[in-house]
Amino acid sequence: MDAQSSAANTGVVRSLELRELSLSVPISGEHVEAVSKVSLMLKPGRVLGLVGESGCGKSLTAQAMLRLGEHQGVLREGGDILLDGESLFSMDQESLRHMRGGYVSMIFQEPMTALNPVFSIGSQIMEVIRIHLDMNRDETTARAVKLLHDVGMQDAEAVLKQYPDALSGGMRQRVLIAMAMAADPAYIIADEPTTALDVSVQKRIIQLLRDLQRERNLGMLLVTHDFGLVAELADDVAVMYAGQIVESGSVEQIFNNPTHPYSRALMGCRPEVSEPGGSLPVIAGQVPPPGSWPSGCHFAKRCPLADSVCLEPVPVDAWSGEGGHQARCIHVEEKLPELEPAL
Ligand SMILES: Nc1ncnc2c1ncn2[C@@H]1O[C@H](COP(=O)(O)OP(=O)(O)OP(=O)(O)O)[C@@H](O)[C@H]1O
Ligand SMILES: [Mg+2]
Repeated sequence: MDAQSSAANTGVVRSLELRELSLSVPISGEHVEAVSKVSLMLKPGRVLGLVGESGCGKSLTAQAMLRLGEHQGVLREGGDILLDGESLFSMDQESLRHMRGGYVSMIFQEPMTALNPVFSIGSQIMEVIRIHLDMNRDETTARAVKLLHDVGMQDAEAVLKQYPDALSGGMRQRVLIAMAMAADPAYIIADEPTTALDVSVQKRIIQLLRDLQRERNLGMLLVTHDFGLVAELADDVAVMYAGQIVESGSVEQIFNNPTHPYSRALMGCRPEVSEPGGSLPVIAGQVPPPGSWPSGCHFAKRCPLADSVCLEPVPVDAWSGEGGHQARCIHVEEKLPELEPAL
C-alpha cells in the first residue's frame, strides 16, 4: 500500500485485523509460542476491549497490530496482520514507518519511559508531525499547539517548551495522546493507558480518550485489567487467557452473559468489576507461561467445570455461540440453558 496517499480519515482504511496470528518469544534459548491463533478485528468508530490476567499475551497482541516487538525477539509463527486487507508483512520499511503513527498509533502504559527526557515536548510532537505530514515550520508549530489544546492543555505554548520531567504523570499521558493523534490516525492501540496514574487522573484521561475516539471516529484496541474501563469505553470485548482468545462478543453480551468459565471467574459477578478502577478478582492458581501450556484447554487446571475431556486437545468446533458471541469451551452447550435468555 502507498501508506502516504491513502489518508486515514477519507474512509479508505476500513479494518485492522489479526487473522489467526501466532507469535513466539525467546525463553531459555528457544522460541516458544506465546500468542496462539488470535483473531481480532478493529473497525472505525468501535472500541474493542482486550482483557485478561497478567502474562496472558495482551501486550504482545497489541504490539503486533503495529508489527512491534520483533526487535525484542518476537517472531510470527503463523497467521497475518491486515490493514484494510493488506498484509503488514508485505510492506517495506518506509510503508511501515508511515503506517505507525499515520494510520495506527500506540499509547503505552508508562508515560515517562515513552517520552524522551532530553527533548522538549514541542520537539517530540513536531517530530511526529514532520514524519507524517507535509507542513512548514509555522504550520507544524500551530498543529502542535492545537493538538495540546485538544488534549486539554490550557497553556499549550508554554508546554511546548517544557521537558517531560517538568510535567505530572497525567500531563505526560496527555502529551502522549497528543502525539498519538498528531497525524490523524484511523486506529489507536492503547495498552493499559491509565494504570500508571492516580484514580482521579485516570478518570479524566478516560474521558479524554472517549471524547477523542468519538469525535474522530477512531477504531481502538483498549488493553486493560479493568472491567470498569471496558464497560465505560468498549463496544466489543475479547477475553484472553494463556495466549488465546477464549471469548468474544459485544460488551452487553459479555457483561450480561459471560460464558467461558474463565470470563465468569474474572467477572465473578462482583459489583466492583463494573466500577472504573475495579480490579480483576483473584482466581486460584496461575496463568501458565509460554512453554508450559497444557495440551488441552489452557484454562483446564483452574477451571471448576473441567473434566478429563478438557485435558485432551481442544476440538476445532469448541467455539460456540450465536450472534457474534463466541466462547471456546466444550462445556458451553450444556451450560446454555443456564444462560438464557440472552444467548
Ligand atoms: N520479548 C519477550 N521475550 C520473552 N518473553 C516475552 C517477551 N514478551 C512477552 N513475553 C512473555 O510472554 C507472555 C505474555 O506477555 P505479555 O506482555 O503480552 O502479557 P500481558 O497480558 O500484556 O501481561 P500484563 O497484564 O502483565 O501486561 C509473558 O509470559 C511474558 O513474560
Ligand atoms: Mg501488558
